[in-house]
Amino acid sequence: MSQRTNEVRESFLLAIASVATVDELEKLRVEYIGKKGLVTDLMKAMKDIPNEEKKSFGQAVNALKTEVEGLITEKREELKKKEIELENAAMPEFDVSTPADLKRGSYHPITLVQRQCEDIFRSMGFAVEDYSEIVTDYECFEALNIPKDHPARDMQDTYYLENGQLLKSHTSAAQNAIYKKYKDALINEGKPIKAIFPGRCFRNEATDACHENTFFQMEGVMVDKDISISNLIFFMKTMLSEVFRKDIKVRLRPGFFPFVEPGFELDISCLICGGEGCPSCKHSGWLELCPCGMIHPEVLKAGGIDPEEYTGFAFGLGLTRLAMMKYGVKDIRDLNSGSLKVLDQFTDDN
Ligand code: DAH
Repeated sequence: MSQRTNEVRESFLLAIASVATVDELEKLRVEYIGKKGLVTDLMKAMKDIPNEEKKSFGQAVNALKTEVEGLITEKREELKKKEIELENAAMPEFDVSTPADLKRGSYHPITLVQRQCEDIFRSMGFAVEDYSEIVTDYECFEALNIPKDHPARDMQDTYYLENGQLLKSHTSAAQNAIYKKYKDALINEGKPIKAIFPGRCFRNEATDACHENTFFQMEGVMVDKDISISNLIFFMKTMLSEVFRKDIKVRLRPGFFPFVEPGFELDISCLICGGEGCPSCKHSGWLELCPCGMIHPEVLKAGGIDPEEYTGFAFGLGLTRLAMMKYGVKDIRDLNSGSLKVLDQFTDDN
């Protein structure tokens, strides 16, 4: 029987020498020391061995099993090491000191216009505020003099969340929080409230070249004693002339928004035809750009400000529209497309 042990040993040593992969090794392991393996069979054969041979046979088989197990473990490590070496050799050389072969990126046109507007308003003493994209019904509507059943809600097809909050449909939604944040400094220290708050807005719009469900606005407010429509016109005209780097003609038309009284649509003279009339301005010579108005007394009250003592103006500039006009983007969907072909064309120098 010890001859059988020797045969098994010899065949194992031969087989393991030609094993080249971890998978092959596993097969070999099953073949020899698995449940029905050759070495296992030898151990099972113990019971048939005459008593006087049992001891030496048992020792030989046990020694064989230990040897087989040891050699398998050794081989597995050797093969794994080889596999890692091969993988490493296949990896491209990485040299941290090599200059990146990448084209310089560029800012999104809306970011460019937004930053430009922020700089201009900052230079006129306005604070730049950031505000949440998820707001309450109170912030978006009620505090802006738009109660639950007001028809003005229909103009903004709003995305409501299951918890009753909503995706802000206009940047005006931050007005109430801004008044509350700055009212003490206004009342106690006589510091006017001057803030702009750009942000992403959402409406359930059918998309086409002029409409998107996600767009950017920049709201601005100024509140102090004796603020009038002429202050509003001055700030808007200054901002637009800076953005377009030329003197811009503006006009105000009446417009209705529940949170301003009086409310206006601010138009600028068409930049494409210089006011002569062309297809871009529907031959009127004017482009609608920025609704605005004098803040409604109820809105000031909701923000903790006495409308008998203070007045203010507010505007909601369409940043997306401004970017389209400034950079001649004809289809609004290009701006949200993430297409580098489109977006690559804009740089700080534009
Ligand atoms: N929030 C309005 C909208 O998106 C725009 C607007 C109109 C904002 C008049 C204002 C304003 O601040 O005074 O439709």
